[in-house]
Amino acid sequence: MNEFNDAIVNPTDKKTISELVNPQRRNILISSAVAALFAHSNVLASEKTSKALFGFKSVSYTLANDDIQVPTGYSWSVVAAWGDSINGQTKSISPDVSDSSSDQEKQFGMHHDGCAFFPVKLNGSDSIKGIWVTNHEYTDDGLLHAGGMEPWTAEKVKKSQAAHGVTVSMIQKSDNGQWKVVNDPLARRITANTLCTVSGPASGSSYMKTAADQKGNEVLGTFNNCANGVTPWGTYLTCEENFNGYFVKTAKPNMHEQRVGIDNKGFGYRWQEHDERFNLDKHPNEINRFGWVVEIDPKDPKSTPIKRSALGRFKHEGAALTIAKNKKVVVYMGDDQRNEYVYKFVSKKSYDSVNQSNNKDLLDNGTLYVARYDADGTGRWIALEHNRNGLTAANGFNDQAYILIHARLAADFVGATSMDRPEWIAVNPNNQDVYVTLTNNSDRGTKVNLNAANPRASNLMGHIVRWSEANGDSSSTVFKWEIYTLAGDPNSTEPHLRGNVIGDTLGSPDGLWFDKRGILWTQTDISTSTLGKGAYAQIPNNAMYASDPKTKEFRRFLIGPKGCEVTGIDMTPDMKTMFINIQHPGESPSERSNPQTPQAISNWPDKNNFTRPRSATIAIWRDDGKVVGA
Ligand code: FEO
Ligand code: CA
Ligand code: CA
Repeated sequence: MNEFNDAIVNPTDKKTISELVNPQRRNILISSAVAALFAHSNVLASEKTSKALFGFKSVSYTLANDDIQVPTGYSWSVVAAWGDSINGQTKSISPDVSDSSSDQEKQFGMHHDGCAFFPVKLNGSDSIKGIWVTNHEYTDDGLLHAGGMEPWTAEKVKKSQAAHGVTVSMIQKSDNGQWKVVNDPLARRITANTLCTVSGPASGSSYMKTAADQKGNEVLGTFNNCANGVTPWGTYLTCEENFNGYFVKTAKPNMHEQRVGIDNKGFGYRWQEHDERFNLDKHPNEINRFGWVVEIDPKDPKSTPIKRSALGRFKHEGAALTIAKNKKVVVYMGDDQRNEYVYKFVSKKSYDSVNQSNNKDLLDNGTLYVARYDADGTGRWIALEHNRNGLTAANGFNDQAYILIHARLAADFVGATSMDRPEWIAVNPNNQDVYVTLTNNSDRGTKVNLNAANPRASNLMGHIVRWSEANGDSSSTVFKWEIYTLAGDPNSTEPHLRGNVIGDTLGSPDGLWFDKRGILWTQTDISTSTLGKGAYAQIPNNAMYASDPKTKEFRRFLIGPKGCEVTGIDMTPDMKTMFINIQHPGESPSERSNPQTPQAISNWPDKNNFTRPRSATIAIWRDDGKVVGA
């Protein structure tokens, strides 16, 4: 998702320009004793001669059109698009989109984002059938309804709410390599009206209680589900990102509302006109019940999604989970807004790899930390815990529930480092190094001070920071970091737009995922208002790249159709099928389509067989049946 109309809401950046130091100088400042703590990692290591991890030929931007471009020798097909039946049994979308809200509740939602494949054994293989779980981040109501948003009705609000959330479905590979949705009782939709519970320290707190939920532990729905995470105990984590945009307040927003970006308009979803709980004048606590990481058990269709409050409340991009050496569960999370922070959660109890049922509440107890990236190339994780680091009642932090609900305020207070819009985070399976995409921040250096980890003024192209936790221990509170790549166009004549990319032109990195070989897959989300213009003149469509953590090379693997974002990724265990999501093909710069001309920019993937473009999951495979990317 693009920034929409979200302005900077973090007023606390106090870093000075003197904190910006030459990265080479910073390396020298790290003592040899400290360096020994990080001997396992690629961070600050120089391995320019390694053979690339991947072997495909780069896809040129000159091939970009209103379709998917993959390397020679690869094929792709659509698995499931917005409006497709979730089990092959329910009604699929009608060409005139006259489908009702209850039809939409049994169809794939709109704007696919984070996703995951949960393998099911079939004929001895774990790579020909599996549960497909995908997020549906937001709706383009110009496309969703026949006639768009005029007139605006309660039924359209319900349909918009039904097109948000998550789909769980079963998919299976055909003999020709294509994947299709198959019927299975676990298929279900989780929408903006599905009952969810709240667990952890904020559950039942006074800040969570509403007229409809006087216990403060049951919430209707999840929405703006952006990226995701997967647990080793078989559950799916969906992350609530721009939750503020659904709420409206006509009175002056209070401090807490201002800090998440509340105003009298929202992002124009207009839910509050027919669903009163989105009117903050009437239901002030409803907003505290969104902005969480939500755990879903895809194998149990009767299970209730659980909002895990111990992981904090902010504009959650994703949740990259890893198990530390000491078996603690560690979840890395970005808060995607200009000037916001990077967080991690470390569980109190240890992961039990033998008895998986012992893990079901691991995300309810632990410590939430926020990152400080110091100018000397080291960093600290600062605990957001009541009565630690000044987070006391005397300083306005009454209890842990308050701290978690207002995690941004707590992070401001302890001096976290403001970042250029933290998006996805990924952990290298070979050495536990951590990577975060910082997609862009045009206000850096003007409205927001530069800092060492965000060193580019008017950062239009974005960058990727990576770090290594001390001793390779993901639960450590000390790390060493560096800038992995300053994105840009290597052929640009403007140094600040060129960056230092090794390989192909790259801008606005967003989706980020390691496969089990250690290839870093990077997906871009250049806003539809900038694609093909100015700094992005040479980039017509969003794309996906493979990168090698040793050489730092980026090689373009896929180009998406017009006006889309490429986001969400997983592979089958045999790595012979890759799944990705194509979000909002044909999106207009306003992010809402003109209902009279829905195909104005794109008609992917149905071409002329349908009336409008549709977000979709696609499968990608090699024609010779070998592993993808090799
Ligand atoms: Fe939903 Fe920050 O992308
Ligand atoms: Ca983005
Ligand atoms: Ca994103």
